[in-house]
Amino acid sequence: MFAKHLLKDKIILITGGRSGIGYQIATSCLSYGATVYICSRKEDKLKIAADKLNEIGTCYHIAGDIRDIERVQEIAEYIKEKSGRLDILVNNAGGQFPSPAEDISYNGWNSVINNNLNGTWYVTQTMAKTFFIPQKNGNIVNIIANIFRGFPGMVHTGAARAGVENMTKTLAVEWCKHNININAVAPGIIKSTGLGQYPDELLEGVSDRIPLKRLGTTKEVADLSIFLMSPMAGFITGETVYIDGGHRLWGDLFDF
Ligand SMILES: NC(=O)c1ccc[n+]([C@@H]2O[C@H](COP(=O)([O-])OP(=O)(O)OC[C@H]3O[C@@H](n4cnc5c(N)ncnc54)[C@H](OP(=O)(O)O)[C@@H]3O)[C@@H](O)[C@H]2O)c1
Repeated sequence: MFAKHLLKDKIILITGGRSGIGYQIATSCLSYGATVYICSRKEDKLKIAADKLNEIGTCYHIAGDIRDIERVQEIAEYIKEKSGRLDILVNNAGGQFPSPAEDISYNGWNSVINNNLNGTWYVTQTMAKTFFIPQKNGNIVNIIANIFRGFPGMVHTGAARAGVENMTKTLAVEWCKHNININAVAPGIIKSTGLGQYPDELLEGVSDRIPLKRLGTTKEVADLSIFLMSPMAGFITGETVYIDGGHRLWGDLFDF
C-alpha cells in the first residue's frame, strides 16, 4: 500500500497493541520498517502477541495499565532505556460496555472514563513530556469511535471519546510549537476482537444499517493510522478522520 520503508527507523508505542486494531497497526508499522512497543494489562497475552510480531520486525512489550500514571512513566523509562527516543504514539487501548444510560453504575461510569479518557491523557502527557517536547518532534494518533451523533447505548464511552477528540484539537494548537502533530481516527464498527464482548443480538443486522453495507476491517483502520503518522499527513493536525462506511451519516448504531 505504502512505500516499503515509510516508517524506517521510527520508534512507535501502540497501547493495546496485543489484539485487534492495535495488533494490526503494530503489524503494519513493523512491515514499514518501524521498531514497535506494545503495552496492555494481560502480560501472558501481550507476550504471545509480541512473539508473533517479532517475526515481522523488532517488537518490545511491556505490561501496564494506562490508568496507572506511575506505570505509564515506567513504560516511558523502558522505551528511553532501550531506544533513547519515541517518534510516534498510538493511543488505542480502551474498552466499554453497552448499557442503557440509566443503568450505568457509579463504578461502571468511572471505569470507562478512567480508561478511555484519563488513561489516554496520562499516556499522551507522559510521552510528550518525556520525548516529544524535548525532542521538538512527535506524532500522536488517537483511536476514538464514531461519536458524530452522540453514542446512544454507550453514553460513557461517547463522553470519553468526545473528550479525547477535544483534547486532540487543543493539543494540536498548543503543541505546534514543539512540532507535534496529533490527530484522531474515529472507527465505526470494525470486525475486530473488541466486538466479541458485545451480545450477538446487539450486532444482528448491523451491516444493513451501514451505508456501505459491511463492517470495516482492522487493516483499513491501520492504513489510515499509518497515513496520519507519516509525512504524507504533515500538514494535518487536530483533525478527526472517520472510517465508518458512512455510518455517522445514516443508520442506527444499535437496534434499540
Ligand atoms: N472494534 C470496533 O468496532 C471499534 C470501534 C470504535 C472504537 N474502537 C476502539 O478501538 C480500540 C481497539 O479496539 P479493538 O476492537 O481492537 O478492541 P480490543 O481487541 O479489545 O483491544 C483493546 C486493547 O486495549 C487493551 N487495554 C484495554 N484497557 C487497557 C488499559 N487500561 N491499559 C492498557 N491496555 C488496555 C487490551 O488489552 P488488555 O486487556 O491486555 O489490557 C486490548 O489489547 C479500543 O479503544 C476500542 O474501544 C473499536
